[in-house]
Amino acid sequence: MGDADPTRMHRISAENERIVDLVLDYSRRRILSNDTPLDKPAPPAELRRLAGRTVTEQGLGADRALSIFEHVLAPACITTDHPQYLSFIPVAPTKAATAFDLVVSASALYGGSWLEGAGAVHAENEVLTWLAAEFGLPEGAGGVFVQGGTLGNLSALVAAREEARRKLDERGLPHPARWKFVCGAEAHSSVASAARIMDVEIVQVAPDSGGVLRGDAVAAALEEHGASVFAVVATGGSTNFGIVDDLAGIAEVVESHDDVWLHVDGAYGLAAMLSPLARPHFAGIERADSVIVDPHKWLFAPFDACALIYRDPAAGRRAHTQHAEYLDTLTASTEWSPSDYAAHLTRRARGLPTWFSLATYGAAAYREAITTSIELAHRIAAEIESRDGLTLVREPQLAVVVFERDGWTKADYDVWSQRLLDDQLAFVTPSSHAGRTNARFAILNPNTTFEHLTGILDTMR
Ligand SMILES: Cc1ncc(COP(=O)(O)O)c(C=O)c1O
Repeated sequence: MGDADPTRMHRISAENERIVDLVLDYSRRRILSNDTPLDKPAPPAELRRLAGRTVTEQGLGADRALSIFEHVLAPACITTDHPQYLSFIPVAPTKAATAFDLVVSASALYGGSWLEGAGAVHAENEVLTWLAAEFGLPEGAGGVFVQGGTLGNLSALVAAREEARRKLDERGLPHPARWKFVCGAEAHSSVASAARIMDVEIVQVAPDSGGVLRGDAVAAALEEHGASVFAVVATGGSTNFGIVDDLAGIAEVVESHDDVWLHVDGAYGLAAMLSPLARPHFAGIERADSVIVDPHKWLFAPFDACALIYRDPAAGRRAHTQHAEYLDTLTASTEWSPSDYAAHLTRRARGLPTWFSLATYGAAAYREAITTSIELAHRIAAEIESRDGLTLVREPQLAVVVFERDGWTKADYDVWSQRLLDDQLAFVTPSSHAGRTNARFAILNPNTTFEHLTGILDTMR
């Protein structure tokens, strides 16, 4: 090897001070910017041409690398926290949460074990305990922040099956030939993904005409599939429509079947329970065995964080604790180690931005911000109903508004959506329901206004 200084990248030096200043300055500008454009993706060849070769033996230096990021790469990333980003599920991190994400990195926190990260784990657990109490779960409920709803759903379902197996083993009973779980037809695709990974079967149950999965439909499925069912998955705010299943009715049915676990996927919607406007929709959630809610959705955290909460965290620990000689110090300990509660080991303390933001602004600010979007969703739904040529597909329950432009084909929606983005007016991708294409506003950014939305409707002539 050459005689270059091996500590160059790590030691405190004028070069590294400058790199840190450059990056913090960029971050400060971006966090406090009021006019970051929506931006849009660029073709790979164009990015290759504009960015040039960036990974080289000698390095480009921070000025050049950051300049490429700022002027070539960042503009090719859609601004997901833009108030006119209304597709999929947007993100709208608070300023405190975004800024604190830098602190999480700067502090090299390890969030996997109490031994290494007690302070961080304590703060994350305070958020989880607060959320559990909001949802009416009993004292002692807890869990972990994982990367996203997909991993949250998977980890909860793995714990559910492990419990079912354990209980059969305790009684000396055989396992079913094929494990199954029941979920609604509107359940998120990550639930099907969990089934594939776990190699279990899904019993998909049709919702009622309003898109709500009901207790009686779940009861019929449990009746038909008997002891092979280890869990029922209800949705607390569907992605397509923001519809909350009949949690109380489903809980009633699940409780009447021994050893069936109720998991509620509230990745998108469960945060709405913080608002008095939506709270009643979630009656019954307090009876769940596990729930998830994604702070990177409606709890205003930066990517990526999903809060996974077990009614009885011991079940999560039994399913997920990893055992290895080099981990004995951790696994022998009775302290709370977040790694034990999901399918992961090394973890970023990704709940900390939410903790800092909640600690800074207080829960009331969250209730207010969430309520604003629910009110706006209802207001724009009424506006859509009042406009000729537009049809509201369903009355919004939370803050997803789905509507059709009468007479439009899928191609019309596609052209319109592309033009909105090309004009940097909005990011609204077409969706579909029952074979019909529609437009969909997912509203959760408190900076989104009624005028933003009517401006978009005006382009549908
Ligand atoms: C209801 C629901 N569940 C699960 C997920 C998956 O979450 P993630 O994208 O964080 O993996 C989503 C994502 O939109 C969702 O809306």
